Amino acid sequence: MNLISEVLINTRNFLLSQTKDTRKKIGQFFTDEQTALYMANMFDLSNYKGKIRVLDPGTGTGILSAAFIEIAIKQNISNIDLVLVENNLDVLPILKENIKLFKSLKDIKISVTLIEENFITFQSNSFREKTPSRLGQFDYIICNPPYLKIPRNSEETINMDEVISGAPNLYFLFMALSIHNLFDNGEMVYIIPRSWTSGAYFKKFRNYIFDSASLSQVHLFARRDKVFSIEKVLQETIIVKFIKSKMTDIVTLTSSEDNTFSNVITHQSSQKVLVQGSSKYVFLPTSSEEIQLLQRIGKFNNTLPKLGMRLKTGLTVDFKNKNRLKNQAEKGTVPLLFPFNIDNGRINFPNKNKETYQYLLPTNGMKQINKDYIFIKRFSSKEEKYRLQPAIYLCEDINTQFISTDNKLNFIERIDKRPIERNIIFGLFVIFNSTYYDTYYRILNGSTQVNSTEINDLPIPNKNDLKHLGQLFKQSQNFTREFSDNLLGDILKS
Ligand SMILES: C[S@@+](CC[C@H](N)C(=O)[O-])C[C@H]1O[C@@H](n2cnc3c(N)ncnc32)[C@H](O)[C@@H]1O
Repeated sequence: MNLISEVLINTRNFLLSQTKDTRKKIGQFFTDEQTALYMANMFDLSNYKGKIRVLDPGTGTGILSAAFIEIAIKQNISNIDLVLVENNLDVLPILKENIKLFKSLKDIKISVTLIEENFITFQSNSFREKTPSRLGQFDYIICNPPYLKIPRNSEETINMDEVISGAPNLYFLFMALSIHNLFDNGEMVYIIPRSWTSGAYFKKFRNYIFDSASLSQVHLFARRDKVFSIEKVLQETIIVKFIKSKMTDIVTLTSSEDNTFSNVITHQSSQKVLVQGSSKYVFLPTSSEEIQLLQRIGKFNNTLPKLGMRLKTGLTVDFKNKNRLKNQAEKGTVPLLFPFNIDNGRINFPNKNKETYQYLLPTNGMKQINKDYIFIKRFSSKEEKYRLQPAIYLCEDINTQFISTDNKLNFIERIDKRPIERNIIFGLFVIFNSTYYDTYYRILNGSTQVNSTEINDLPIPNKNDLKHLGQLFKQSQNFTREFSDNLLGDILKS
């Protein structure tokens, strides 16, 4: 009997009986066969001593367990204690059919416990109290968790404060609990969105997971439309393997075009290089050049705040202040700068090609002193070549006491609001205009938004180096990416 094929036939029948909307409400999407087998193959089963305990939380129809069993048989494992947790009443009858298939296997002895409960609330009490869970501990956990945003006051969030910084999502609560469920040196493989690797919302979760476990492997897909599920899922998805041990530092980075897993490319790096800064961002490089870039930029000890500066989001939300927008300067108005005022690294104001009103009758909170700034666009489109699009703004560019900034534009200023030294302005332009920083940022953040928390955490050169870069820039006034790369390249390689 081909176990996975049988499970898949049952899964397809179940899909025909359900609407996608019903399943979407509980975050139910099924893993395809190749992905399930690839995930199961990521475990190291060679340390096996006697019976192994395996957990598949959010089991669905059991495809991941089936894949695990197939791989375990190939590796001559003879005895598995399998625990399944699933609380969706619709899928349980199919799962029970599939459990019968598991138990009927001749080559392996499998005992199955099905827990028809909510995986989180069933044991979150023990998570908070750091006591053993009611489910017990496991050698291996394989999971495709529900992807579902939940309100901060949902019952699933009770007891889970240690990992929740902002808007919770079931997927990372599943992961945190699974770490809790592992034996020391136990392994878990999860297929999840990439979102947890960056951003302030996941900071506590990242701290928890890296305090308790080590990242051992990450698999990336080049084509996000072709992954993971029998169905279309648009989230950027990755597969991760964690080991509950602080001893391992080597991370294997694999990538494939899609879920056929043909021509898998493999690199290795150290967790110290991939997990950087106090926010524990996880960088996901796909080439040895990118790994080298992470090492080089990761060596810088400064950040904008450490040098007394900060990137902020523009102060004015234009669509909420339509009645304050004017098409020409009037008494009391200030220039309102938009992303479209950025032109080749400088500011073009007003942009005559735009019909948008570019003057604002500001409230106090919308005004800022007219001084030198670095602006960085907050959004870029997928088609644009560069994620980081900076511009130099000098106070003499517009003859005015105050300006304002649209909130789709970021700006850098000193925390004490005094003007930034001009050579530092130029030096900052060089680093944010370089393809080195553009690539670095892209490795960190899969989305097209330039996020202030992340820019404020970026390692940057020290003040003297920034001034030096600024002086060289000033002499040439060359705004090309290539020139910025040449200047910064000398510092990065030194
Ligand atoms: C993304 S699906 C994955 C199903 C299956 N493991 C697979 O890979 O095809 C997540 C599953 O978790 C179940 N689920 C959602 N919330 C749950 C919870 N709190 N406790 C247990 N199961 C849950 C859903 O019903 C769904 O079957």
